[in-house]
Amino acid sequence: MKQVSKLSKRTRSSTTSRRAASSRRPRAEVIAQPTPTTDSAADSRFLRACRSQPVDCAPVWLMRQAGRYLPEYQATRKRAGDFLTLCRTPELACEVTLQPIARLGVDAAILFSDILVPLPGMGIPLSFSEEGPKLEPVRSAEAIAGLRVATPEDYPYVPETVRLCRKHLPAGVPLIGFAGAPFTLMSYAVEGHTSKQFTHCKRLMFAAPKEAHRLLHKLTETVIVYLQAQVQAGAQALQIFDSWVGALGPDDFAEFAAPYVRRILEALRPSGVPLIYFAHGGSALYPLVGKLPADVFSVDFRMPIDEARRQLGLVRRPTGRGARKPAAIQGNLDPIALLGPKAGIERRVRDILARAPRRGFIFNLGHGIVPETPVEHAQALVQLVHKLSAAPRGARA
Ligand code: CP3
Repeated sequence: MKQVSKLSKRTRSSTTSRRAASSRRPRAEVIAQPTPTTDSAADSRFLRACRSQPVDCAPVWLMRQAGRYLPEYQATRKRAGDFLTLCRTPELACEVTLQPIARLGVDAAILFSDILVPLPGMGIPLSFSEEGPKLEPVRSAEAIAGLRVATPEDYPYVPETVRLCRKHLPAGVPLIGFAGAPFTLMSYAVEGHTSKQFTHCKRLMFAAPKEAHRLLHKLTETVIVYLQAQVQAGAQALQIFDSWVGALGPDDFAEFAAPYVRRILEALRPSGVPLIYFAHGGSALYPLVGKLPADVFSVDFRMPIDEARRQLGLVRRPTGRGARKPAAIQGNLDPIALLGPKAGIERRVRDILARAPRRGFIFNLGHGIVPETPVEHAQALVQLVHKLSAAPRGARA
């Protein structure tokens, strides 16, 4: 792949600068060509931050970092023809997974796919148009009873893409796998598209809760198998996207969302990879969200990151008693800030860094990067985060 040869050059130089801060690393490993070795990725900034270990500077990656704002994504997407073909062609999906690593210098790659990709294997037809995803709505007891739990035979291209990415990713850049959370996937399965009111989905939950739970159960089993397949193929961390959980009040979150997310986290715990939960729009739910056994909580921009940490219960009690090991936090720049001037981006980055903990922090956006984003601003963001977070604390303000 063309992409790969471009990558090795950038990676050699950026790895060299990382070495300055990590004197424990043997020289030979640092100047080595990118290889699929696990060792340096395991000791990467991103995975260290997920485990709340010390880092030389804050790791950064951007949700939807492989996407339409990148001209090279547009070119590969054109070659693929349509979005689902891109997701289902390992060579092309690998190519776009790698693009933001070369372009932006982010500290982690995220598998190129979509949260809706496992649904056709359950028996829910899916297509994408200009307006977004279209699914055949599942609204009756019969339709729910007819759904299967999808298995890796339904999406062989997903583990294949993971393997290819691991083979071609520069040493030191770990690969994140992902899935949608059951409630978010249910909203797509029942509404048939992206929704604002969630009328059909909530009607099912409130009028036929047993059926809603049956559907959530099948989605949960599907997600577990889907994530296990990604880890077996080489994914080194997992993120669960709960994009629409902000539509739920606390009681409904506790009944229809949290138990299923918990089940996924517990099922994936033995895999040993860090588990990230993103409750988009869920700041009112943080006291409940924080009880889930995730290693990292990804937060949006609707609440300052220090307040989010407090509400999630991640701030270590002074006595250290009664609290489990605090989880890490990821976030939380408003993605639209990247459309504004660089001075405004810098002001917001400084504010986030001043509020974020030194340990257990991963810089990210509060939601996905948008197609209108100037590539240059995304590049400037990554450089700023690295530069400003490496400085001593007093110099940040
Ligand atoms: O982060 C990455 O770079 C990895 C790839 C990724 C995509 N989708 C690619 C994509 C990831 C992690 C997702 C997750 C996803 N997909 C979510 C959760 C995150 C969030 O945004 O809340 C959701 C809700 C979806 C469902 C989805 N996929 C929608 C609603 C749409 C259409 C709207 C839009 O943003 O384009 C998609 C399409 C999609 N998924 C695109 C990409 C790059 C654009 C497709 C194109 O090229 O036209």
